[in-house]
Amino acid sequence: MATERRAEQQIQAISPSMRSRVAPFLAMETFKEAARLADTGRSIVRLEAGEPGAPAPRPAREAARRLIESGRIGYTQALGLPSLRARIARHYRDAYGVSIDADRIAVTTGSSGGFVLSFLALFEAGARVAIAAPGYPAYRNILEALGIEVVTIATRAENRHAVTAADIETLHAQTPLDGVLLMSPGNPTGTMMSDQSLAEVARLCDRLGVRFVSDEIYHGLTYDRPAQTALAYSDHAIVVNSFSKYFCMTGWRIGWLVLPPSLVSTVERLSQSFAISAPAISQVAAEAAFDGMEELEAVKASYARNRAMLAQELPAIGLGDYSPIDGAFYVYVDVSRLTNDSMEFCKRMLHEAGVAATPGLDFDRERGAHAVRFSFAGAENDVAEGVKRLRAWLGR
Ligand SMILES: Cc1ncc(COP(=O)(O)O)c(C=O)c1O
Repeated sequence: MATERRAEQQIQAISPSMRSRVAPFLAMETFKEAARLADTGRSIVRLEAGEPGAPAPRPAREAARRLIESGRIGYTQALGLPSLRARIARHYRDAYGVSIDADRIAVTTGSSGGFVLSFLALFEAGARVAIAAPGYPAYRNILEALGIEVVTIATRAENRHAVTAADIETLHAQTPLDGVLLMSPGNPTGTMMSDQSLAEVARLCDRLGVRFVSDEIYHGLTYDRPAQTALAYSDHAIVVNSFSKYFCMTGWRIGWLVLPPSLVSTVERLSQSFAISAPAISQVAAEAAFDGMEELEAVKASYARNRAMLAQELPAIGLGDYSPIDGAFYVYVDVSRLTNDSMEFCKRMLHEAGVAATPGLDFDRERGAHAVRFSFAGAENDVAEGVKRLRAWLGR
């Protein structure tokens, strides 16, 4: 008995590695608390989650059902099903007019899996990689867990939160960078870089020998103009993308990388060891999702209506201080007139108004206490109900 207790104490005493001490997603904390309240029977409007309310398109679900019925679901090649890789390559021709060899595509477990593989393939421990703030919090967490130094570029609302080639050149001149990781449209801001700015960044990175990773996960979800891929401007850019957002397939955990040819076999070997392959069923469903574009465009049209409604309503309830929503399904509101503690503000909003949103501190450790992200990827009625509750809560 005493021996068992001693063994148990020893197990409890094992402390985690320093590099695994990444910050939790506050969004997930809000997500859990909102779910807990909803479970107790409270009506909560969920504007915190960064995922579509709509299901995967019907052809994707049917393809998955057929595969389940066929019985056997095995591993695939580490880089993914050849037919899916070919279909993704075709997508580049159709959507961007850019010709990409299917051999350059690696299918991954969500873009999240793609980050780990591409960062390992690109950077040594101790490398310096620049990211924007506000930005997607997992970038910092994954990079730091891999022993990579994160250099933060604080963006400005008046500049549409864009990182410019000049920003990168200045930073690089101070202490050389090894990589730059950017996204457009952005999470949490929904703003986009201009094509020219993207081209300048891609070309500058090539000139400086800095690796440019372009997270294009919100492509397809743009409201005024389409987003161009970094591949249109550089063959050296590494593109990360996913079926999670436009294709409404978050839980299927399926994404892809477009790699320079020189990195393909490296990523293949890493994938063999890290995941063996992305889930076969999700790969089959993802390939079929390309046949569900009509449904997906209808989902996007509902986001566009939510966006238009918010543009009208948010200023009227004192939440009008945000950058133009060029894409994605987020609005990142400056709430500094209402609070200097976005965490506390979101907690009160959840408990008192029954509306869940994400505190800006997730996205910007320095300035996020003054900002809140609302997601409008849910049903139109829910978003309208959320605004109604906020109006009453804020006394407007
Ligand atoms: C900018 C950005 N990149 C990547 C991801 C990860 O998505 P997934 O792993 O589902 O492809 C997210 C999720 O919210 C995101 O906002």
